[in-house]
Amino acid sequence: MYTLAIETSCDDTSIAIIKDKTIILSNLVSSQQKTHEIYGGVVPEVASRLHAEIIHNLITKCLKEASVALKQINQIAVTAGPGLEGALLVGLSVAKSLSYALNIPLIPVNHIHGHIYAFTQYKPTLSYPALALIVSGGHTDLILMKKEGSFSNCGKTRDDAAGEVFDKIARCLCLGYPGGPVIEKTASLGNPKAFKLPIALKHSPFEFSFSGLKTATLDCIKSLENPLDHTADICASFQQTVNDTLILKTLAACKHYKINDLIIGGGVASNRTLMNAFREAIKETAINLIHIEPKLCTDNAAMIGLAATHLGNIYAINRDELRVTSTFSYEL
Ligand code: KG4
Ligand code: ZN
Repeated sequence: MYTLAIETSCDDTSIAIIKDKTIILSNLVSSQQKTHEIYGGVVPEVASRLHAEIIHNLITKCLKEASVALKQINQIAVTAGPGLEGALLVGLSVAKSLSYALNIPLIPVNHIHGHIYAFTQYKPTLSYPALALIVSGGHTDLILMKKEGSFSNCGKTRDDAAGEVFDKIARCLCLGYPGGPVIEKTASLGNPKAFKLPIALKHSPFEFSFSGLKTATLDCIKSLENPLDHTADICASFQQTVNDTLILKTLAACKHYKINDLIIGGGVASNRTLMNAFREAIKETAINLIHIEPKLCTDNAAMIGLAATHLGNIYAINRDELRVTSTFSYEL
């Protein structure tokens, strides 16, 4: 059983081949980072064009790497949302064409389910109730799973996503795009206690807000005579505040819902300081932390294929009417 998976929800074009339920034969990611770097963030129309330019070659390359012929593929999995509509449309159009041409099923996958189902590389099933913190450039969500296939949001950001704020602060400090990796690297040279920055919504247990932290960090930068002389300290203090916020809210939700398995995924979860702090914070608890490794944390098609092989039978599918949507609820 071979699944060909396609992910084009933002600025990474990715194709993967999954054998049976969990074996990743190939997972290729073509990043558009260099192009968007010039603009300091993702330009949606440019992202769509670049997906269209590369997707066919990437499929050919992926099949070759997996040593699987196109006619051997049994089903197509594709991200149908949430994401940038034009970018999603490229992946969905290619997926639909392949599905009709090969006369095989098409499984539309929710991008967030993809981030969660990367867990299957570390554990065959979850011990419920389980919680996922998905923290990326577009999301900061706490998702409660009481049983397989049940997802409910128990906390999200009221404004900016954590990764988005990493990107914006990096831009202000002239560090380039994406901001997360470069802030992490720069922060390792700084003092996380150098500047006191606020944790928002301390008393609203599972809800996040990062726009106040963004403003406070920008005010801090503006108040310094030579801010670029303090880049490492600013990065370290900012990163520490984001990490403290994520840990505070996530552990409160774990306690409230008596969580067994905790999954942490999405691009920001590739931050080693964050993951070390999480490991330390759960040490004295019964929570089992499932940390997704960086190459499966950031956007990739393997996670989409894994969600399809595990959840495919519960997605309602009408291939002819399938449309992309920028806001695709993951509450099945
Ligand atoms: O999951 P992802 O690849 O795409 C979205 O669905 O958004 O996440 C990308 C985000 C970017 O905002 C990037 O700055 C952030 O993840 N990111 C990080 C790190 N690596 C990527 N944030 C903090 N630390 C990192 N090491
Ligand atoms: Zn993502």
